[in-house]
Amino acid sequence: MSHTTGIMFFCLGNICRSPLAEALFRHHAEARDLAHRFHIESSGTSAYHVGDPPDPGSVRVARNRLGLDITSQRSQQLTSDHLSRFDFAVAMDASNLQNARRLTTTPASRLLLLRDFEPDPSLHGRDVPDPWGGGPRGFDEVFDIVHRCTEGLLDHLLTLQAPP
Ligand code: 4NP
Repeated sequence: MSHTTGIMFFCLGNICRSPLAEALFRHHAEARDLAHRFHIESSGTSAYHVGDPPDPGSVRVARNRLGLDITSQRSQQLTSDHLSRFDFAVAMDASNLQNARRLTTTPASRLLLLRDFEPDPSLHGRDVPDPWGGGPRGFDEVFDIVHRCTEGLLDHLLTLQAPP
C-alpha cells in the first residue's frame, strides 16, 4: 500500500524562503528516489503576494547553486484547511509558527520549525532570516540554511516511516 506524506512549508509571503524549502526538500527526496512518497507544497501566512511567482533573489539562487527552476511556483496563503490536510506544516520562523498556531487546533507535533532540523543542535530554534528587500547575499545564506535543514527534516521523517 502506498502512503504519501504531505508537507507544507510556510513563511510570510511565500515568495522568498518557503519556495526554496519546497524546491530543496523535493530535490533531496528526488536524489534518494523517494519523491513519490511526499506531497510537497509551500504557502505564506499573509496574502500579500498571492498568485505571484517567487522573488527574483530566490529564483536566482536556486538556479545558480543547484540548477533548479522554481519559476512555475505561485504564492498561496496558508489556511486552516491546509493545516488539517497536510501531515506536517514546517515554519521558516517563530513568528509565522505563531500565526499558524492561531489558525488551527492541529497537534503541536505536526507543526514544526525548520531550523529544529539543523545538523548543529546549537542552531535549533532559530529563524530562517527574512531576505526580502535585502541584498543578494541574504538569499545565499537562506539557501545554505534551507538546503541543510530540509535534508535534516527528510532524514527525520524517514526515521518515522521506517518499518518496525
Ligand atoms: P518570505 O519573505 O516570507 O520569505 O516570502 C517576505 C516576502 C514578502 C514580505 C515579507 C517577507 N512582505 O512584507 O511583502
